[in-house]
Amino acid sequence: SDPAAFRTELRVPPLLVPKVDKDGTRRFALTMQRGRSEILPGKPVETWGFNGPHLGPTIRVARGDRVRMAVTNRLDEASTVHWHGMRLPAKMDGGPHQMIEPGGTWSPHWTIDQPAATSWYHPHPHGATAEHVYRGLAGMFIIDDPAETELPAKYGIDDVPLILQDKNLAEDGSPTGDPLDGTFGILGEHMLVNGTHAPFLNVRTERVRFRILNGSNARMYHLAFADRRAFHVVGGDAGLLPAPVQVEQVSLTPGERVEVVAAFTAGEQVLLRTLSGSDDIDEGDFDLLKIVAAPRLAASPRLPSRLAGAPAPIAVPPNARVRRFQLNGHDAINRKEMDLSRIDEVVPAGATEIWEIENTVYAHNFHIHEVAFQVLDVDGEKPPAYGSGHKDTVYVPPKSTVRLAVRFGRFTDPATPYMYHCHILRHEDSGMMGQFVIVEPGT
Ligand code: C2O
Ligand code: CU
Repeated sequence: SDPAAFRTELRVPPLLVPKVDKDGTRRFALTMQRGRSEILPGKPVETWGFNGPHLGPTIRVARGDRVRMAVTNRLDEASTVHWHGMRLPAKMDGGPHQMIEPGGTWSPHWTIDQPAATSWYHPHPHGATAEHVYRGLAGMFIIDDPAETELPAKYGIDDVPLILQDKNLAEDGSPTGDPLDGTFGILGEHMLVNGTHAPFLNVRTERVRFRILNGSNARMYHLAFADRRAFHVVGGDAGLLPAPVQVEQVSLTPGERVEVVAAFTAGEQVLLRTLSGSDDIDEGDFDLLKIVAAPRLAASPRLPSRLAGAPAPIAVPPNARVRRFQLNGHDAINRKEMDLSRIDEVVPAGATEIWEIENTVYAHNFHIHEVAFQVLDVDGEKPPAYGSGHKDTVYVPPKSTVRLAVRFGRFTDPATPYMYHCHILRHEDSGMMGQFVIVEPGT
C-alpha cells in the first residue's frame, strides 16, 4: 500500500501505574468496560477495553514483585481475565473457572517469579473468548528481570509494544463478522497495531526493541520489513534467547510473542508488513506500520552477543513421561470436546514431560497455561533458531507433529485446572481445549 496512507500516529498503550503498599505489594486496577473509539479516523464506534475504550494499559513488573490485581467487570455479561504466560497458582490464572460477574471484582495475587518476558492478558470465558477479544479486550504484561541484559527499555521510546490484530470493518467503521463463523472465525482485511489503523511511528534512536504480540483471533503473520532488511530476534513468548538471532522474517500465530531489535538510519522511512503464506490463516500481504526515523538519532546500547537473563535450556530426563494429543477438526483434542467438569491430565508438580501434538488437519496452534516449553522438533526437524527458546504457544502446521519439552510449575491444586488449547479463538471456543491439574508428586 501507499506509505502516504499511514498517517495516524501509533497509539502506545499507557503504562498502568500501581499503588504500592507498605509491604511493597503492587496493586493494579483494571476495569473491563465498553466505550467508543475511532478505528477508522473520524468514525467513532463501540469497542471494549480495560480502563479505556479499546485494548488495555501495559502492566510492567519486575521479577520478585508481589502483585495484587483488582479486575472489575463493567460489561453487561460475565467474563474473565487470564494472565497469558504467567506462572501462578491455578486459582489466580483467570481461565474459564474464574468468571467475574457484571459489577463484580476479582482480586488475584501472586509473586512474579519467572524470567524477563513479554506476556499479555485477555478474557477467557468459555465460548466467548473470541468475541471478547475481537471487541478489543487485550493488553500487554511485561516482566523485567534484574538479571536481564542491557537492551533498549525506555517504554514508548525505544521499547515499543506492537499488538497485531486484524478486523473486518463495516462502512461505519465498526468491527463486523462472526468470530465463530467458518473454519477459522475472523480473518480480517484491516490490520490494526495497538488498535491504530494505518499507523506511523516516529523513531528517535538508532535501535528500537519491538515487543510484538499476535493478538488476532486467527491470523498468522510473517513479519518482514518492506526492504527485507535484517533484524534480530532477542526473545520469544516466555523469555530471552541465549543470543540474538538475525533474521529477515519471523512468523507468529495467535497468542505468540516475539521481541526483536531493529536498526534504523537517520531520516529514512520503512514499512513493517506481513507476507502471505500458504496455511489458510496467513492469506494476503498487508502493510502494518510505517516507521519514520528522525533526521538525527540518539545512540542506542550495542546489541550484546549473549543475552544475560535468558532462561537455561529445559533438560528432558531420560524417563520423561510422553503425553500425546491429537488435533482433528476444530472442536476437540483427542476427540474430546472441552468439558469444564472433566480433568483430562494430572501432572506431578515440577515435572518435565514431552508433549507430542499431532495435527491431522489444517492449521492449529497449541498453548499451555502455567508452563514454559521448548520445541524439540516439528516432524523431526529442529525449529528455527528464533523459535527455539522458552515459549508457551506454538504453531502446529497442517498434517504435522510437534514435540515439546514442557516444564511444569510447583503450585499444586488438585481441584482447580489449568488449560491447554488451540489459540485460534474460534477453535478454543468451540471446544479444542482440555484441562490439567498439578498435584503433589506421588498422589
Ligand atoms: Cu492466551 Cu488459554 O490463553
Ligand atoms: Cu485450532
